[in-house]
Amino acid sequence: MSLKSIQKEREYTKFVVDERLCYYESSKNKSEKTFVEELSLSLNQKHKSIDPKFFYDKKGSKLFEDICKLPEYYLTRTEISILTQLQDKLPTYMNEEFRLVELGSGSSYKTRILISILENMHKQIEYFPIDISKILKESAVTLLDNYENLRMTGIIDTYESGLDFVKNYDNKKNLIVFLGSSFGNFDYKPGLRFLDKINSSMKDDDLFLIGLDLVKDKDVLEYAYNDSHGITAQFNLNVLSRINSELDSNFNVDKFAHHAVYNEAENRVEIYLRSLENQTVNITKAGIALKIKQNELIHTENSYKYTIPKIKEMFSSTGFRIRDMWFDEKHYFCLILLSKNS
Ligand code: TRP
Repeated sequence: MSLKSIQKEREYTKFVVDERLCYYESSKNKSEKTFVEELSLSLNQKHKSIDPKFFYDKKGSKLFEDICKLPEYYLTRTEISILTQLQDKLPTYMNEEFRLVELGSGSSYKTRILISILENMHKQIEYFPIDISKILKESAVTLLDNYENLRMTGIIDTYESGLDFVKNYDNKKNLIVFLGSSFGNFDYKPGLRFLDKINSSMKDDDLFLIGLDLVKDKDVLEYAYNDSHGITAQFNLNVLSRINSELDSNFNVDKFAHHAVYNEAENRVEIYLRSLENQTVNITKAGIALKIKQNELIHTENSYKYTIPKIKEMFSSTGFRIRDMWFDEKHYFCLILLSKNS
């Protein structure tokens, strides 16, 4: 399929900033539900929930950055320590030129480590971040200032559609990366569907690098999601403030508590907001008066942790071949390099 025909299927507008930076922005897919539509549904269920994608407004994104720096939240620094060791290891799988395609936008230190690895291998580095949020535009400028040989093409779209776009873009090989254990926020079946989707949007020689958090001691896990400074609690509660300001509601954040527990049978940390009393909350834009009982839980996220057998099973059932796996000293976290099993 040519680029023109993809642009016809899902319309993209191309913005050229200069010769090193451009964006493709998709016109919103009409079938995607709005914030108010999604919340009206998920809060009206027997088990109330709020989709974790709503955490990341400006304040939420800032709080998440703070979480990543917490001593309790081992995930970020552990993944960074593994990435740092890949300087010599990753290039052995990439003897030709690869483009870096990242799911989620790369303002982060982790993207920089990968760009530095590619910089040692090739004269020009191409970086295609795929992100639904326009935050992408803000992080681009500093990145381009720091890496002279970098060219960046931002794709403002969902991961799924962005991957289709990249597949049909040209014949260049892609190293697709999905870091930060974001995959762990998918439930098991949707996770497999997502891996299928990635697999089908890869060309035969493309590579996929994913970060996964591993099963470990319950205390270590619960501590990571219940830090002593209460930053995680603020992050979780912030979603209610966001609903208040965007949907005209009156959640009183002081009447809710952050609650995170490790479910050993399901290998996941479950995160909730617990109501401290019987209360009614009005969400004006959704036209609902929500009755919440004392101690009732609103589910906000699952964060799955994996075992090695589970990882092998997940990837083999979705058509991948594991090329390599890298760990930190404590085996808390792992990075897995995959290719299509064709
Ligand atoms: N994706 C992150 C994780 O699973 C998000 C996260 C960290 C999170 N701490 C949290 C989500 C606390 C909700 C509440 O680790």
